[in-house]
Amino acid sequence: MGSEDLAINGGPKVRQGPYPPWPVLGEEDAAAVTETLRSGKLTQLTGGDVAAIEEAFAAWHGFDQCVATSSGTTAIHTLLAALGVGPGDEVIVPAHTFIASATPVLHQRATPVFADVNPRTFCISPESVAERITGRTKAIIAVHLNGHPADLDALLALAEPQGIAVVEDAAQAHGALYNGRKVGTIGRAGCFSFWEDKIMTTGGEGGCVITHDHDLAERMRRIRHHGEALVQPAPTGGQADERTYYHAELGYNYRMSSLHAATGLVQLGKLEEYLEARRRNAAFLTEHLTDSPAIEPPYLAPNSVHSFYKYVCRLRPEAGIGIDWFVRAVTAEGIPVSRRYPTPLPQQPVFRGSGFGKQPCPVAERLAGELFTLLVHPTVTEEDLCDVVAALWKVAGRLERSPHTRSGEDAAREIEGILDKLSLTTLINKEDVQNRLVEFCLAALGWRLDSTNTHVWVPLSEQMASLWAFPSRQTKRDYVLSARGAQVVHIEAQHEWRRFAVDLDTFLERINRGDWEDTRREGPNKELAVLLWGAQEANCKRAALIDEKRLLIFERDGEWGLAREVDLFVDPIERVYAAFMLLAPP
Ligand SMILES: Cc1ncc(COP(=O)(O)O)c(C=O)c1O
Repeated sequence: MGSEDLAINGGPKVRQGPYPPWPVLGEEDAAAVTETLRSGKLTQLTGGDVAAIEEAFAAWHGFDQCVATSSGTTAIHTLLAALGVGPGDEVIVPAHTFIASATPVLHQRATPVFADVNPRTFCISPESVAERITGRTKAIIAVHLNGHPADLDALLALAEPQGIAVVEDAAQAHGALYNGRKVGTIGRAGCFSFWEDKIMTTGGEGGCVITHDHDLAERMRRIRHHGEALVQPAPTGGQADERTYYHAELGYNYRMSSLHAATGLVQLGKLEEYLEARRRNAAFLTEHLTDSPAIEPPYLAPNSVHSFYKYVCRLRPEAGIGIDWFVRAVTAEGIPVSRRYPTPLPQQPVFRGSGFGKQPCPVAERLAGELFTLLVHPTVTEEDLCDVVAALWKVAGRLERSPHTRSGEDAAREIEGILDKLSLTTLINKEDVQNRLVEFCLAALGWRLDSTNTHVWVPLSEQMASLWAFPSRQTKRDYVLSARGAQVVHIEAQHEWRRFAVDLDTFLERINRGDWEDTRREGPNKELAVLLWGAQEANCKRAALIDEKRLLIFERDGEWGLAREVDLFVDPIERVYAAFMLLAPP
């Protein structure tokens, strides 16, 4: 199959029709909502639906306390407020998750501290958490991301002796099991989202917190309702169960409505069936993707049962392809696919702009450029999944046969050539390694990072050993590159993603002055590298990127003119070359 067969290049699409929708609500939901609507008891304060879903959802978990809220975000916020998280407290959150796992920390004017994630489960790493705990740590948010349980035993072992609360963010993980127990029931409390596309919905928006702690639940009930205690007599008198209009503390209106609760009650009755379908669909995909050298299907820890809110795969960097192009190519085949959280939380303006998230989270940063999401919701059939598999193999299969991809031996020769052209003292240090551009290039070279991401291991040939002035009789095949020293390069990327130009002289001068503002965003870094590569190749002083990364124009003889048009899917070797240009000392 040639590249012209790909739909992105005008070839036929794998799938013409639409993908099955989610959620699908039916007559039963409509009847329940209609009945509630007609009752005129539309709120938690006046009707019985909210109390009913609270009881049913708690019971489904073997609990008796559930506090329904207007969303998953307000569930987390209500819980943090009830736990007394406030100014001066630190809350450890994973760097790779949906932003609402962390923003409630800011709403409480506490400090979010970002921990790295496990490279296989994508959930918060207990090792990284251990490094972040201080005397101010009040809570750890364990997000069961995509439906995979976080490593709760390890987190609880760290937290409990120090009186730190483990908050389970189970917004994406209804029904997931950790050591046979439902998530949400293991930490101090579990927060759920019932947003429209979640594993079950309460008809668009909704959330809740479950806990076995009655006092905590009581406080949450008060906070979600303006701090007003409904069932306690106010100090000024009044009957239990009547509104007191006495507001004991700062609260919010975070209540769920009766209409949402009525829908949720119907949906809860189908939850087991939904989970079974998701797991079946995921198993089908895993079976058919396992052999792909380019795609890594989701990992499942042995003590865990996934609930597959999303089926999140890793595009292996060895495939030598940018994730953006991949997602566009699969989308063009008629398959819904998207990148999974491409901006790690520490780099989100809301955190970064306030100076949070300075500690590195290299795994989260790497994953942000490698993960993509496929949909396995219950309405998806095996036939649909066959299209998904066909599209992935069509796109990823082409890459593996691409003329751009070279054999290992060719690559080694190319690398030596590149190193020859460059300064022999091109050095890489820890900070550079954590820069995703470098990681990307290392992977393209077939080099690898050690598990702490602080050392680069290089398969060392005799010739390379002499090029790099390493002992020539090195007996080990691997050599620790980072032991050689350091040159720190920060790359500026304050320009727009789609349209920017660099003046190479200024660029290199500023690199050498070392006054570049650090950026860890993948896109501009990678694009800058490509620009530099292109400019170097055309022997031009200026390069510009236009029209969605498809064209490079270069200046010649002081004039702007089109020197060369380049498809930005360049092969890994050239990307590596470009990266080394960034890293090379003057
Ligand atoms: C991990 C996680 N936490 C919290 C939330 C917030 O839930 P909601 O959208 O219902 O506010 C979400 C929602 O997508 C989520 O995925």
